[in-house]
Amino acid sequence: MIIEVCIDNSCEQKGAFEVVKKIQELIAANSLTQKIVLQGCCCKGKCGSGVSVTVDQTCFSVLPGEVTQFFKEQVLKKL
Ligand code: FES
Repeated sequence: MIIEVCIDNSCEQKGAFEVVKKIQELIAANSLTQKIVLQGCCCKGKCGSGVSVTVDQTCFSVLPGEVTQFFKEQVLKKL
């Protein structure tokens, strides 16, 4: 699985690096380092209310406080 977090201006201001850090922690806590590639990306033109996070081509808008729930629903359930 590939997870891309937009770290461009608009998303950076909404907490992109905090989102990256939380996803890294969740990947490690769930022993998924062999199954998930986490990478940063530039603006996808989907600047919304949260940080743009793409999971296998599907784009989501995620705020730092929503990462744990997002990870459960959109990552763990799909592995
Ligand atoms: S800056 Fe992240 S989608 Fe535009």
